[in-house]
Amino acid sequence: MKTHLGPDITQSNRNIRRLLHLAQASKKDVFYDLGCGRGQLCIIAVSEFGVRHAVGIERLKSRAKKAEQRVRHLGLSRQIEIRNEDFYDSDLYEATIAYNGLMEDFESLQFYEQSLKRECRLVTLSMPLVGVMLNSQDYPFYLMKIPFRKARSVSQWVQTVLSQKMPVKDFFKEIAEDPDYWTDIRTLKALIRRRFR
Ligand SMILES: C[S@@+](CC[C@H](N)C(=O)[O-])C[C@H]1O[C@@H](n2cnc3c(N)ncnc32)[C@H](O)[C@@H]1O
Repeated sequence: MKTHLGPDITQSNRNIRRLLHLAQASKKDVFYDLGCGRGQLCIIAVSEFGVRHAVGIERLKSRAKKAEQRVRHLGLSRQIEIRNEDFYDSDLYEATIAYNGLMEDFESLQFYEQSLKRECRLVTLSMPLVGVMLNSQDYPFYLMKIPFRKARSVSQWVQTVLSQKMPVKDFFKEIAEDPDYWTDIRTLKALIRRRFR
């Protein structure tokens, strides 16, 4: 079952820089954008942060083509690879930073644990992976390192999301009322039940 815990939106350049700063992107890094759309994150990662390689993965053919055209036009084809495929079927092993601003589904946690190598930084948008402790955050971006550290309880996880203690029921109430979360509350509860059972 696919779920959507993050919005299907394109990031502004300002936010892209913010998330790359959070990940401390540098020339040592290989950056992957899982669902790259027009490829802007890869372009900024290479041209402003100097990452040595960037890979944008986009399952829609028309968007992947557009991203590839933009990369070629900017003369960045040697540094940026655009893959027209589903990132769940893609080899992510080279990534030292991976960004997914899109979604979490019931298989995401296991998928990242199996596909990303040790010390890789995963950045998510709007909500961290359910049950995973954060390494750092700059809202709306959350950074978690492989191997993931798991929260011992829902309350501990809520505290890491909010950077403060809050009863779990109040957290759900806040999410339901605050459009900033872009989160489907039923799905979130289902994920929490599954991860903490
Ligand atoms: C809203 S765009 C975000 C583009 C860019 N990452 C950004 O933040 O500006 C999300 C993209 O992810 C793509 N996408 C969604 N699921 C995907 C999957 N499983 N594999 C590859 N691309 C996917 C969508 O087609 C869409 O173009």
